[in-house]
Amino acid sequence: MLNLEIFQGINSRKEEKEENMKVMVKVPATTANLGPGFDALGLALNLWNETTFTTTDDKQITVTVEGEGAASLPGDANNAIVDAALGIFDRAGKTCTGMKIHCLNRIPLSSGLGSSSAAFLTGMMGANALLNSPFTDEEILRIAIETEGHPDNVAPAMLGGLVASIVYEDRVISMKLPARANRSPIHVTIVLPDFDFPTKQARAILPKQVDRKDAIYNISRAVLVTEALRTGDLDLLGKVMTDALHQPYRIPLIPGAKAAMDAARNAGTSAIALSGAGPSLIAFSSKENPAVGAAMKHAFEQAGLSSRVFELSTSYEGAEVSIL
Ligand code: HSE
Repeated sequence: MLNLEIFQGINSRKEEKEENMKVMVKVPATTANLGPGFDALGLALNLWNETTFTTTDDKQITVTVEGEGAASLPGDANNAIVDAALGIFDRAGKTCTGMKIHCLNRIPLSSGLGSSSAAFLTGMMGANALLNSPFTDEEILRIAIETEGHPDNVAPAMLGGLVASIVYEDRVISMKLPARANRSPIHVTIVLPDFDFPTKQARAILPKQVDRKDAIYNISRAVLVTEALRTGDLDLLGKVMTDALHQPYRIPLIPGAKAAMDAARNAGTSAIALSGAGPSLIAFSSKENPAVGAAMKHAFEQAGLSSRVFELSTSYEGAEVSIL
């Protein structure tokens, strides 16, 4: 349990008023890149953080966390949900009179499954709902993308399904694409090794310039990744969900990752990639096959890393807010 008191020093905690507003925000995990779609493609997954916000008038912000990150999330204003929520109050020209935030976190932190995007969106959508929605969903998405710095987790977390994003002039256009993953979920196995590989580091090690042949390799495959997901052709996905721009630099830095990818293919997965910037790997299969996760886990063990296996599916639905 994390207790965060932002307005310490301002006393006189009052009883919560009955009319205090309560909202719940649900945001899914996401997998970004899908191999060649670096910083452009992302897909929502059926693993959800659920966060309730209750307004108070005691000038205090209290955050309690259960599940992922309960022991490690920062106990100060660096808490990403609080920071994002207060940012929305600021933009709306409003002062927060106090709130209680309770997080049920299922998305593992620093895993390549979009936990930071989920936190930004959660804070922004929760605050926006408490303020009776001064911002549209599109505006919230734009603010969240600005905060995150790249759109490929935030956009599918908000919109659900398979989403492609581009930067057009100085703004991001994100579009939900038709995908079989949208109509009937595809099974995915995520294996998350116990290895610290922060996104900042995983981005810093990438070359600033790329070879033309690598650009062509990715452009051609990224188009066919969307086609494979549109038709649900997992054999095609296996041929095209490979990459020349980021995986060759990142995978060697994650002990056992290359062996785990080979093991997954041998165990029968159709397609496998680094999930986002890693360290988790995502394998697509036509149905749940425990041998895939077991083989990957074993490969990480051989490299000295324990790991967790998540059997999930793709999600057509994106983030949602309910007034309780
Ligand atoms: N596209 C981003 C990257 C995703 O690969 O760095 C990070 O979550």
